[in-house]
Amino acid sequence: MSTNRVIVFDTTLRDGEQSPGVRLSMDQKLEIGRALQDLGVDVVEAGFPISSPGDFEAVQMLGRELREVQVCGLTRAREKDIDVAGEALKGAANPRIHTGLGVSENHLQHKLRMTREQALEVGTKAVRHAKNYTDNIEYFMEDSGRADRDYVYKVVEEVIKAGATTINVPDTTGYTYSEEYRALIKGIIDNVPNSDKAIFSCHCHNDLGMATANTLAGVLGGARQVEVTVNGIGERAGNTSLEEVVMSLKIREDLFGLQTGIQTSKLLAISRLVSRLTGMVVQRNKAVVGANAYAHSSGIHQDGVLKERSTYEIIDPSMVGAEKSEIILTARSGRHGLKHRLAELGFHFTEERFEDIYQRFLAVADTKSEVGDEDLQGLVSA
Ligand code: KIV
Ligand code: ZN
Repeated sequence: MSTNRVIVFDTTLRDGEQSPGVRLSMDQKLEIGRALQDLGVDVVEAGFPISSPGDFEAVQMLGRELREVQVCGLTRAREKDIDVAGEALKGAANPRIHTGLGVSENHLQHKLRMTREQALEVGTKAVRHAKNYTDNIEYFMEDSGRADRDYVYKVVEEVIKAGATTINVPDTTGYTYSEEYRALIKGIIDNVPNSDKAIFSCHCHNDLGMATANTLAGVLGGARQVEVTVNGIGERAGNTSLEEVVMSLKIREDLFGLQTGIQTSKLLAISRLVSRLTGMVVQRNKAVVGANAYAHSSGIHQDGVLKERSTYEIIDPSMVGAEKSEIILTARSGRHGLKHRLAELGFHFTEERFEDIYQRFLAVADTKSEVGDEDLQGLVSA
């Protein structure tokens, strides 16, 4: 099933909320859920209903409140988990059950303590059971990134036969390199006889900082769903960042030829909302939504951007809802940047007077990380 629409599956409220130290109240989950729906995501994974009464309530509440997105509940491949998720999703307009279990030798031996055959049987049984509640069933093969390919192909074939419509191929431990992950997705699509009956989904963790790159590689391999979180929050080093994947697909449409339903002008607002409610600070240099993402400090860059923004910016800040590019005056700034800021403040000087201010500006800039407007006022009035 290869189309040019990429489904955005947001797991900020499930995998994202698993970030150490994060706990969201019901009201906060609702606020984030509504913002995600407004943003244009296709699926909101709202929680893991059997894990706690709070998660059950969150899935139930979001299923009732969010009528324009699919609301998903996570389960292990166990009947009881699936029954509880089915119950939580009863009032949802578009419910999805996300079930599955591990496929790597590591998980089979150390965590599940099952043979491959036993795990396959448990997995397919879980899918058949989930069909009592919905036809919208996603199957995750935990730790696919480290699993034996032939076994993965076998699992995919059987769970599709059992009724799964989306197959999640998680790189649970963030182990793979992009070319491997792309080959994994492509290998599944090319080798599994009924692969045309399902959508394949990328779920990449960021342990080696590869999550966004791997997700995009998976899309190039034929996946048409991406599992992401706002600001990339999640277990350990986090999940794939929603804003990075969406903006990559948009900015490099020439390469991907694919679209999402995301209204990108809302990206900065939702990033700030999630950061505020989770207490997880966004690093200043974070791609797309970091405070420095559209700020220029060196003279060479400022000169370029002031002549033509695209010299150093591939994203127009307004595309993500940021006001404009910023020129930060520092010891690395040049005359062009300083003149520009002074003009914005209403100051125009002869060349000689400007040169004098510039020399004094450099002396001040050497003493601090950023020269602000108050410093400039002092310089021009001296
Ligand atoms: O990382 C992972 O494998 C997961 C699954 C539960 C989907 O989060
Ligand atoms: Zn995960």
